[in-house]
Amino acid sequence: MIRSLRGMNDILSPDNARFEYFLETATTIAKRYGFEYFEAPLLEETALFKRSVGESSDIVGKEMYQFTDKGGNDVCLRPEGTAGVVRAFIQNKLDRQGGIQRFFYHGPMFRYERPQKGRLREFHQFGVESFGVASVYEDASVIMMVADILKALGITFKLKLNSLGCQECMPPYRQKLVEFLETSAEQICEDCVRRKETNPIRVLDCKNGKCQELYVAAPKLMQNLCSCCDADFSILQKVLRDNGIDFEVDTHLVRGLDYYSKTAFEFVSDEIGAQSAIAGGGRYDRLVEFLEGKPTPAVGFAIGIERLLELIKMPEARREGYYFGAMDEEALTAVMKAAQTKRASERVIIEYVPKGLKAHLKGADRVNARYCAVIGENELKEGRIWIKDLQEKHEEVVAIDAL
Ligand code: HAM
Repeated sequence: MIRSLRGMNDILSPDNARFEYFLETATTIAKRYGFEYFEAPLLEETALFKRSVGESSDIVGKEMYQFTDKGGNDVCLRPEGTAGVVRAFIQNKLDRQGGIQRFFYHGPMFRYERPQKGRLREFHQFGVESFGVASVYEDASVIMMVADILKALGITFKLKLNSLGCQECMPPYRQKLVEFLETSAEQICEDCVRRKETNPIRVLDCKNGKCQELYVAAPKLMQNLCSCCDADFSILQKVLRDNGIDFEVDTHLVRGLDYYSKTAFEFVSDEIGAQSAIAGGGRYDRLVEFLEGKPTPAVGFAIGIERLLELIKMPEARREGYYFGAMDEEALTAVMKAAQTKRASERVIIEYVPKGLKAHLKGADRVNARYCAVIGENELKEGRIWIKDLQEKHEEVVAIDAL
């Protein structure tokens, strides 16, 4: 028997209903914040991710589904959504258009990681990217949007915040950090020795216990921010507090992708095990320029849909739409016609096998229909249909045309 690949799941009941409910909720809220739907290809040139997510990141270094296609192109399945949206933004000259442009998207992402609970090789994200607003109030807005989505789904969360500084304050801080790492070069793990050369701030979220202990004493970027980044970070915290959103400042939150500057954030849940990040994002003011577009400030986030599924509190299932049935073969075409008319505005389930009223009522119950509508021999002669409201427990026989 052919099985699905490791770390790639089918989304079946009851997760399918939760998945759909998540997308409906997130889409409604994204539109309320002024974002419009966007769709990009799953396959892109490998160079796109190398340049945006960064060669030193684990995603590009170890986890890409990379291959050469039949035309000899070096391509890969997207490991995340931001790079493709930025590529499209530039390619379609939206950077030249100026103004504010806000997009949301959802779909599968691929990372060749070691599968475990909450960590898949094919997983789904819902993400947003906002272009053209340099103001930190937009950062606050996108964070509040994640909070709105999670609250609407009944999910409790913790929000971690950090500032990664800008072109002005990051390079001198990086230098200080490298000097600190040099003094403890003997004690840090192999990965951190490598990170010290490629992207030193990534050492801060090293999972090695000994490194963690050591980095408690490392210089903090928070204490080395320039006055602009410092002021922005204060505003961000004030807006979140004013809007009743709890957060903790985590100076070791550096994110696994290289394109961030200034605001970085992660939403975590302590109810889903080790892979606790349910959403992450931040500002990336230099990425558009870095990919050869017109300099455009940007900020966004992505939510990992699979990690949320078990946390979603679904509204109580309500009876919905119509169940149609016939009591004998002759009535079936009349049933099909009546059902098809109703389908223009309602959910309709048709039973093609003629049977008795009791059996039809059971069928209607099974598919959670609000109304059970049946045509028998007498009704057919009179051009009428028997209908029962299963919620209000009320029944009557009406003209088919008046249904
Ligand atoms: P990310 O933190 O790499 O950010 O991924 C966002 C979310 O995707 C994570 O918080 C997690 O819930 C989910 N996720 C990541 N890897 C896996 C996996 N292997 N299995 C299941 N779920 C996973 C980004 O991707 C950025 N593009 C977010 C962003 C948008 N930043 C700015 N704009």
